[in-house]
Amino acid sequence: MTMAKLKLGIVVGSNRRDSINRKLAQALVRLGADAFEAKLLRIDDLPLYNQDLEGDLPASVVRFKAEIADADGILFVTPEHSRSIPALLKNAVDWGARPWGKNSWTGKPAAITGTSGGAISTAVAQQHLRQVMGSGVGMHVMGGEAYIAFKPTLIDEQGDVTDASVRTFLKNFVDQFAAFATRFTNTHSAASERTV
Ligand SMILES: Cc1cc2nc3c(=O)[nH]c(=O)nc-3n(C[C@H](O)[C@H](O)[C@H](O)COP(=O)(O)O)c2cc1C
Repeated sequence: MTMAKLKLGIVVGSNRRDSINRKLAQALVRLGADAFEAKLLRIDDLPLYNQDLEGDLPASVVRFKAEIADADGILFVTPEHSRSIPALLKNAVDWGARPWGKNSWTGKPAAITGTSGGAISTAVAQQHLRQVMGSGVGMHVMGGEAYIAFKPTLIDEQGDVTDASVRTFLKNFVDQFAAFATRFTNTHSAASERTV
């Protein structure tokens, strides 16, 4: 039986034109193309969160929340800013979680990665994001760690990872997420197949 591809929403925590995290996201899309139909979810047009806007949600927020709802899983690829999550990303997370009772993230599977040129890459930002997306807004965050040390030659013009060991590691990461996300999308059929 041919399985339909999983719908993957990708959130990149950078609005920079030449973002190295967007490059990493594009490389991950290529590596996961057999399992995922990926869509980059725009977050740089979301207004700065203000509860006063919740009465009449801005169009960009409505779109973003619909895109999350439509995804089978969300992959976060984020820079680290001052040893935490960029404000741009936290803003998107908060819009996704609001208004009260309309949290778009809850129950969805998530995976987290990110890159920087620093010695410990994005380890601290990823730990913060794991807490926010897990206990904060109720996503199922895949275990393990994927801290990618960026070098200018790591990802080529086509979006391929040039280092074989990093490529193998990232392929394993996307394959693992495909298996993890499938567990949540198949909940209904698994339950209906149970005999006791
Ligand atoms: C405000 C700010 C804070 C930063 N803090 C960190 C940090 O804590 N750790 C780190 O490894 N890099 C840090 N950096 C450097 C980023 O890793 C680097 O700018 C990277 O290119 C950001 O990813 P992007 O290209 O996807 O935007 C910081 C950069 C900015 C602009």
